[in-house]
Amino acid sequence: MKVVTTIDELQQELEKYRTAKKKIALVPTMGYLHDGHLTLAKTARKDNDIVVMSDFVNPTQFGPNEDYESYPRDLKHDEKIATEAGVDYLFVPSVEEMYPTDGGIRFEAGPASKILCGASRPIHFNGVLQVVSKLFHIVQPTHAYFGQKDAQQLALIKMMVRDFNFPLTICSVPIVREEDGLAKSSRNVFLTAEERKQAPTIQKALQQAQKEFLQSHDKDKAIQIAKTMIESETSGKIDYLELRSYPDLQEIHPETRHFLLATAVYFSNVRLIDNILF
Ligand code: PAF
Repeated sequence: MKVVTTIDELQQELEKYRTAKKKIALVPTMGYLHDGHLTLAKTARKDNDIVVMSDFVNPTQFGPNEDYESYPRDLKHDEKIATEAGVDYLFVPSVEEMYPTDGGIRFEAGPASKILCGASRPIHFNGVLQVVSKLFHIVQPTHAYFGQKDAQQLALIKMMVRDFNFPLTICSVPIVREEDGLAKSSRNVFLTAEERKQAPTIQKALQQAQKEFLQSHDKDKAIQIAKTMIESETSGKIDYLELRSYPDLQEIHPETRHFLLATAVYFSNVRLIDNILF
């Protein structure tokens, strides 16, 4: 595996594969790799000739009071995990390399970016789409891989690819969980021991809500069951817990067939997200 830090070098490396019409996979990450990223990379490895993983904590997707500075970083660990997963190129640009100028041009991710996670993180998805579109231009992958844990992000990236005609396929990979059901996340390291014990309740609560909704079709009752469980069994504060249609993220109606049941919960030092797609 080769670690590349500049856009020029990466493009020079990839040129030969593009000319030979090879399948090039991009796995965008913010590093501090865990089993969820490993699954993304292994899936990409299986289906492509070349795998590029980006490892970049993107400042434009963090709000002023969010955890950009403290977001965990460990490049040596990432190099090890990416090598194990069969990544060919680990792209680790600096902030200056990715954002050499600020001409004031901004991405506006649209109404679906202002609900769910976007309601409390208003600029988050503008920054995500900005960096992901830059990575698509830099790498020009044939396939790009994203986890279903960030279901809203995945939906918005698919909308961007459709609306801006990016010539690539978006591939999604199911959530990878700890044995007790907690969704793997780079931010789990910030949970206290007590919060770590409580955090699997998030997934259990979503499962209860899903069960209730499938039986009764009563959305409000289902959501209330999950909220009560999280509020009574954990010290977490619910940011949102919603049932929406997927992938368009609209209010559900009797014809809705695909659902996203999603939540974000604040613990003392960390905001965790989880969801069920059904
Ligand atoms: O999901 C993430 O880790 C990030 O939002 C992404 C897609 C790598 C963009 O910075």
